[in-house]
Amino acid sequence: MKIRHVIEAQQFNKELLEEIFREAEEMERIAFSGGSDILRHNIMATVFYEPSTRTRLSFESAMLRLGGEIVSTENAKEFSSAAKGESLQDTVRTLQSYSDIIVLRHYESGAAKAAVEVATVPIINAGDGSGQHPTQSLLDMYTIKQSFCGFEKLKVALVGDLENGRTVRSLSYLLAKYEGVKIFFVSPECLKMRDDIKEYLERHNVTWEESEDLSEIAPEVEVIYMTRIQRERLLDRPDDYEKAKGKFVVDKKIIDSMKKEAILLHPLPRVDEISVEVDNNPRSMYFKQVQNGLFVRMALLKMCLIN
Ligand code: CP
Repeated sequence: MKIRHVIEAQQFNKELLEEIFREAEEMERIAFSGGSDILRHNIMATVFYEPSTRTRLSFESAMLRLGGEIVSTENAKEFSSAAKGESLQDTVRTLQSYSDIIVLRHYESGAAKAAVEVATVPIINAGDGSGQHPTQSLLDMYTIKQSFCGFEKLKVALVGDLENGRTVRSLSYLLAKYEGVKIFFVSPECLKMRDDIKEYLERHNVTWEESEDLSEIAPEVEVIYMTRIQRERLLDRPDDYEKAKGKFVVDKKIIDSMKKEAILLHPLPRVDEISVEVDNNPRSMYFKQVQNGLFVRMALLKMCLIN
């Protein structure tokens, strides 16, 4: 199935998700056997107005492993003509003359949708402010599937800055597609999940619950998905940042309280919300997620440019 753009998690149905996971498995084989040239003569533009390590570099690595080329501006806010006042849409109109696909991270929610309005090449949303991060949620789901073979009846705790977290928003949309899933929103009172996601879950008959007590929820769930308290999104709310930071930490005690088969995920980067003492615990899958990001993004590039 061809993918036109990757903008938001709601655009994927179960059938397409399965196809992405199958392609990602194939990409895993390709990556470990020296790469491929299926995207030869294709150029990807990576345009990041916010910092990134994993998303930008995994997309770039994905393109190179499939034989394509890259043009990039890593700090578009400062080093592209946005610094001279150029609009995002004019930047997209320009970049599509130089590239076959554009991977965009922007500080405004809705930026990827605005880019699509003028795009003649595929746009991939690599994170739009507090909006969504659909490619992260695809690699999160791929990692969950590797542990549980499916998603039905899973209990998942989303933990941290749920108000501003784009990864937990996208992941909620994807989890909502599966029967019997239950989501626990574990956050400080000041950073609760927004109502639009709760209403979406209710419309799709997904059970959810809120808590401020990670130690109570940890033994109940199959997946704990930790997120960072995002200082950069709370610059005008320093009191909330102080209240929230350090409130939830997965340490040895918490991870030992989890079910034997349960897994611990994090989109990374982490600050202090997962203690390094649990990195070697078999439940810790966050560096597996990093690697899966490469395979899932290779699959997405193929499906946008070839299928
Ligand atoms: N998970 C994630 O989006 O990481 P980066 O900000 O490093 O890209």
